[in-house]
Amino acid sequence: MDELSNLFLKNSAHRRSSDRAADPEMDLAEMLSKIDPSIEMITLPKPETLGYQEKGLREGIEKRRTLRRLDPEDRITLEELSIALWLTQGIVKVDDKRQDTLRNLPSAGRRHPFETYLGIRNVPGLAPGIYHYIAQEHALQLSIPGLEAVDAIAEASFKQKHMQDAPVIFIWAAHSARTTSRYGSRSLRYIFIDAGHVCQNLYLAAELFDGAVCAIGAYDDDAANTVLDLDGNERFVAYMASLGRKRVSKA
Ligand SMILES: Cc1cc2nc3c(=O)[nH]c(=O)nc-3n(C[C@H](O)[C@H](O)[C@H](O)COP(=O)(O)O)c2cc1C
Repeated sequence: MDELSNLFLKNSAHRRSSDRAADPEMDLAEMLSKIDPSIEMITLPKPETLGYQEKGLREGIEKRRTLRRLDPEDRITLEELSIALWLTQGIVKVDDKRQDTLRNLPSAGRRHPFETYLGIRNVPGLAPGIYHYIAQEHALQLSIPGLEAVDAIAEASFKQKHMQDAPVIFIWAAHSARTTSRYGSRSLRYIFIDAGHVCQNLYLAAELFDGAVCAIGAYDDDAANTVLDLDGNERFVAYMASLGRKRVSKA
């Protein structure tokens, strides 16, 4: 391990149980997605109306593979997007007492530090652009209209081909204060561990509709943060994934 990584591990080590959690001085509003009142809210099909129950968990886990051969002509439907967002960041309960949220995936201390952005190229019903998932409404807001910003995200992944072809790109941006307000210097570990759960749920969600997912850890951080206007410190792109459709293999 290089010196910097070693320093990070040492400085974020949990040594005493008294190092544990501070009471976060953060109210519920900061745990929810910020709504821009000037932007139209596009409500997604309600998760309970979606008929994706038929596949077994074991089958989904065993069949899951990273798939990179995508076709730019492929489409992802609003229903598919809805179930993918629901299973990766959907809010099951807004807890007024605890001032946090319970979601469809684990997160250290229930801090759920991510905001989901979607680079949309080919979803009938949605104009191309970068959308922000408003988790508490299960809705989208178009943050940056047009294909240009979506292409800039693909470019930031060092032009990985499947990112250039994907009908949808998932971008998980960390709002680190949600976690640092409780866990201090241990937080970065938790944020990246949390990110793994999110993307695994996307892989499994995609199994429900023969979607094709590729996790993206290789990207130019500054470039990706610039596209989303994130400062790269308090807020930063923590993980991404391309989502397309499985190709029928020519046996
Ligand atoms: C943290 C992480 C980062 C990854 N980054 C990339 C990436 O930038 N580009 C890519 O093509 N695949 C990426 N992958 C996909 C892995 O290469 C893939 O999971 C691995 O080859 C195993 O294949 P499988 O997922 O089909 O089991 C990443 C996977 C993980 C978990």
